[in-house]
Formats: sequence, structure tokens, C-alpha cells
Amino acid sequence: MERSFLEESLLINNAINVCLRMFCPRDLYTPAHCKTVSLFSGHFGAFLNLSREEINLLQLAGKAHDVAKLAWSDNLLQGKKKDELGDDYSNIFHHPKRGASFLFDLLKEHTSNFKWVGLILCHHWGYSKEEKHYPPLDDIDTQRSLKEYSWDLEDPKFKLMVGIIKVADSLHAAISNRVYREDPLPKQIPEAIAEIRGKMGTVYHPEVVAALENTESQIKSLFEIDSQLHSF
Ligand SMILES: [Fe+2]
Ligand SMILES: [Fe+2]
Repeated sequence: MERSFLEESLLINNAINVCLRMFCPRDLYTPAHCKTVSLFSGHFGAFLNLSREEINLLQLAGKAHDVAKLAWSDNLLQGKKKDELGDDYSNIFHHPKRGASFLFDLLKEHTSNFKWVGLILCHHWGYSKEEKHYPPLDDIDTQRSLKEYSWDLEDPKFKLMVGIIKVADSLHAAISNRVYREDPLPKQIPEAIAEIRGKMGTVYHPEVVAALENTESQIKSLFEIDSQLHSF
């Protein structure tokens, strides 16, 4: 009997949970960050009236978006500077592609819906085509993979869902105790929102920025509850 995607997503969710457990005890930050990005992404999806299945895709993609950081060295995870990293530095830019291909290989026998993997592949894309993207927009492998994951680059729903993951990711990175960034101190939520608003239309999708501004108090509550669970 064929399973629905909602049924399959329970299995996918379990597989992602096992992957996230593999980060511990070496790196406690990344699994907590992934879970919060999933939470924020689901929240934005619901606010923007996406369907139950689309929200599910966002939650899975958010939870697994940085899974390839499992293969990062301690130097990368500890936020060493570019000149101390040597060749290791390039791994930063490979993690969306490696994570997507790892999850596709892991789960290809168990599900036929890989739209959530496509969102992982593109989770560092900016909104405007002029922004820097990794993997690059015109990368042949990326375009082939997106077709395999049933996405069309020009599909507005794809752009919106990539934009949701992007805002959720940047927001949590800004307000949490993340080691690998230039400013080691977490920002307050209003300050982080102002920074995201400043890049609306270039880095960030305008509809998602509007959702963020309209739900600031809900984001604050979600983050407070989540911080009690994960302490980041
Ligand atoms: Fe990432
Ligand atoms: Fe992330």
C-alpha cells in the first residue's frame, strides 16, 4: 500500500533525529540550531498560509539543513578564522550540497518526495539573483538535482520556501550563542529583525520579512520556550 507523504515524513523525521544525535557530544550547538530553524520555518509557513504538506517540508528541511556540518573539523566548528583554516575553509561552502546529496542517498528507497532536500540544497541562496549564492545558481549539478527533487527554479513557491528557511536560519544564528561568526555575542530579537529588514529584497524574501515583523512577539515566545529546552 502506498504511503502518504505525511506518513513518510515520520520516517524521515526519525532518520534526521538520528543524524542530529551523531553531533553529540562533539557539537551541541548545531543540532539545537537545526531544531529551532525547523520550529521557526514551520511558524512562518503557517503564518503565510502554506499547506500542511508544505509546512511539513519546511520543518524537515529546517531540521536537516546543516547536517553536513557533521563532517566539519573541530577547527571549523570552533570558528577559527579563514587564514587558520587553509583548505578546510572551502568546506563551509560545500555543506548545502553535501547535506542534500547525503540525505537523498540515505532515504531514496523510503520516500519519493524530495522537495525538502531541494530546500536544503538552496538554504544559503539570497533572494535577488545578484546576491552571492552557494552552490552557484548556474551550477549544472545543482540544476539537475533540483529537477530530481521536483522543483522549478522559477516557481514562486520554491522561492518563498527557500526564503523562509533563509530567514529562520539567519534569525536563529543572530540571536543564539553561535561560535562561528564574527560577532560572538547574540543579538536581541529586535536588533536581529532590523538587520534582516535592512537586507529585504536583496538577501531576504520580502514576504518572509513581513511575516517576521508581524509575528515578533510570537517569535520571542517560541525562542524563549525553545531556549529552555536547548540552552542556546
Ligand atoms: Fe547552512
Ligand atoms: Fe544553519
